[in-house]
Amino acid sequence: MYILLMGPPGAGKGTQAEKLVEKFKIQHISTGDMFRAAVKEGTELGKQAKACMDAGQLVPDSVTIGIVKERLAKPDCKQGFILDGFPRTIEQADALDRTLGELGIKLDRVINISVPADDLVSRATGRRICKGCGATYHITFNPTNVAGKCDKCNGETYQRDDDREETITKRLSVYMAQTKPLVEYYQDKGLYTEIDGRQPIDKVFSDIVASLRGA
Ligand code: AP5
Ligand code: MG
Ligand code: ZN
Repeated sequence: MYILLMGPPGAGKGTQAEKLVEKFKIQHISTGDMFRAAVKEGTELGKQAKACMDAGQLVPDSVTIGIVKERLAKPDCKQGFILDGFPRTIEQADALDRTLGELGIKLDRVINISVPADDLVSRATGRRICKGCGATYHITFNPTNVAGKCDKCNGETYQRDDDREETITKRLSVYMAQTKPLVEYYQDKGLYTEIDGRQPIDKVFSDIVASLRGA
């Protein structure tokens, strides 16, 4: 199964990807997670990515396309994958199209988790991530059993640097200008499904799974 997960910042892409990985045993490819890993390692890529991420801007296409191409060529992707947060520009989408063509892979479905802008700020400011396993929580909507400790691995939870209110607002405007046009791009390809992301996490998940049955 080859799935592309789209949606504005804080829509629930990572949350749903975690659940899809568990159900379908496929790879989760999140460009945001890849950049955060590079920042942690202190690589050149990490330094470049951090400056863009902290400003709420996209990392340049040339950089992002390169790392995704490399990742998709790895053998584990043959079992299937969920692309989370890539593509985010028309140029990235065209590059993905070419890369998948070269690899002989056809996307099964493009899922857009739709959430109005008003809800997104509180989702991002309340988000907490596990330092150990990367699991995503929310202080109100999806809290850990013990405050500050991951339910899965007991790791410490933290807040992302780009989850400050002013950065989120910038990320949202970047999304509207550069990423939203991809909705039409994939509607034209006939693979597109929109899911109501305002619903509870489990209902969003069951709607996604139902849409994949028809894929
Ligand atoms: P990235 O990490 O991809 O961030 P994003 O797209 O802004 O999306 P988020 O991860 O913030 O949100 P999400 O949709 O995964 O939501 P989540 O499940 O966590 O990218 C970060 C940065 O990296 C970018 O700004 C850019 O600089 C760079 N970058 C990444 N990809 C790039 C690319 N392709 N090109 C260029 N640059 C790139 O959920 C959010 C919160 O809501 C959580 O707390 C969760 O518990 C809660 N929640 C989830 N679902 C629900 C629900 N149904 N109801 C209530 N709460 C919910
Ligand atoms: Mg995410
Ligand atoms: Zn954990």
